[in-house]
Amino acid sequence: MYSALPAGILQRPIALTGFMGVGKSSVGRLLAAHLGLELFDVDSMIEERTGMSVAELFASRGEPQFRTLERETVAEVVANGRSVIALGGGAFVDPSTRELLIDKALVVHLHLPWSQMREVLDGLESDRPLLQGKTSEEVHDLYLQRLRAYRKAHLRVTVPRSSPEDGTGRVLMALERLRHAVEAPPAGGGPVS
Ligand code: S3P
Repeated sequence: MYSALPAGILQRPIALTGFMGVGKSSVGRLLAAHLGLELFDVDSMIEERTGMSVAELFASRGEPQFRTLERETVAEVVANGRSVIALGGGAFVDPSTRELLIDKALVVHLHLPWSQMREVLDGLESDRPLLQGKTSEEVHDLYLQRLRAYRKAHLRVTVPRSSPEDGTGRVLMALERLRHAVEAPPAGGGPVS
């Protein structure tokens, strides 16, 4: 499972991706605290820098402009050394941001099955422009489309719906398994032929 992972992946910034509302920011905060790393929350950084909420940015400048700001912000934070990065749910879907993250970060997909996701989404609409005015079927289609991109993450961790603490614990376990797999000597003490 881990054979395709590049050397040195454990030294990279850890970038959390996944669908809107899955808990990237809250798991990111706990994970960063646990690992003693700085947290970069990309949406919050963009909001601080522009003085506008993500919803206002979408409305006044449009999604392409938001994606450009997102790409620039991600490029800046991945260059900052080891950290935890909470991405917005569309960042890893944008092809050039994804390419950058695959090359420079350890990307962890926080996954919530649709049966649980749909309950989380109630109440998120007001500040998620991509959910506004969409039927449940349309949001499900978006979820399925997004999964195609999220599958390209280096790791996938299924997180519980309402507990960022448990979600963080699961990410830490997945990172630990990855560390063992990367550091373990090949079976038989030599290269596997
Ligand atoms: C988006 C997700 C949002 C935010 C913007 C677009 C997306 O972040 O970046 O509304 O395209 O999925 P969250 O995933 O934190 O909700």
